[in-house]
Amino acid sequence: MRPSVKTLQEMKMSGEKITQVTCYDYSSARIVDESAIDMILVGDSLGMTMQGYQDTLPVTMEEMIIYGRSVVRGTENTFVVVDMPFMSYQEGPTQGLRNAGRLMKETGCQAVKLEGGAEIAPTIQAITNAGIPVVAHVGMTPQSHNAFGGFKVQGKGEANAERVLRDALAVQDAGAFAVTLECVPPRLSTLITKKMDHCITIGIGASSGCDAQVLVMQDMLGITRGRTPKFAKHFGEIGDAMLEAFNSYASEVKATSYPAVEQTYVKSDCDEYFLKKLDEKYA
Ligand code: KIV
Repeated sequence: MRPSVKTLQEMKMSGEKITQVTCYDYSSARIVDESAIDMILVGDSLGMTMQGYQDTLPVTMEEMIIYGRSVVRGTENTFVVVDMPFMSYQEGPTQGLRNAGRLMKETGCQAVKLEGGAEIAPTIQAITNAGIPVVAHVGMTPQSHNAFGGFKVQGKGEANAERVLRDALAVQDAGAFAVTLECVPPRLSTLITKKMDHCITIGIGASSGCDAQVLVMQDMLGITRGRTPKFAKHFGEIGDAMLEAFNSYASEVKATSYPAVEQTYVKSDCDEYFLKKLDEKYA
């Protein structure tokens, strides 16, 4: 059975750590669903991991719905959160509520996530008032990387640290049941977690002081080629395992050792006489 918002909050209250991983497709979702992971994020990071863009900005509502739906179909034990893409809520509460509603109705997910702090609180309020659970996202918010001047650690220095804390408090007051803290230094993320009343802190590059952790699946499985962020520990080397499997397949096909007899429908094969007749007929 899927955890509910209430179960997740009870886990926070009892000090049990909560786990989340991003996931974007049905087959992977089925594997996550068999695992001990509590939550999936269908993140707009799919713009990079699945579509090869440089950032998340080009991702559309329609794409989030297609990927979100596929993941929901592959799960029955995992709480699924779908990201609201860039410019699907930045116009204000009316637009945010309309698109959050679409994500819930058209994917079957359990919650939506949107980026921003105090400035986005009225939108979070409108969405939660409609009974839609919200995960907020403060600290380094990738949809605003052009304004930040890159993907940088947030909350350095007193004023910036206070801004991240105030953002977290503002989204909690607006009704978010969880808040992702991205690239926030350890002491600050621990303090924010302490200051949160019911709101679950989900860290990514934000230390074990948070209630929960999230990682991008391709990063944690060692599938991402090229540089990955400092916090993205590899819990497997699936990329190398895939490469080895693709190379074995290619070399067996070239050597005609695949398909072997065991991989053919030999019992249903035509008899010699029949094949000879066909051969002559189509000479
Ligand atoms: O889109 C995403 O995958 C995210 C995580 C980095 C938290 O927002």
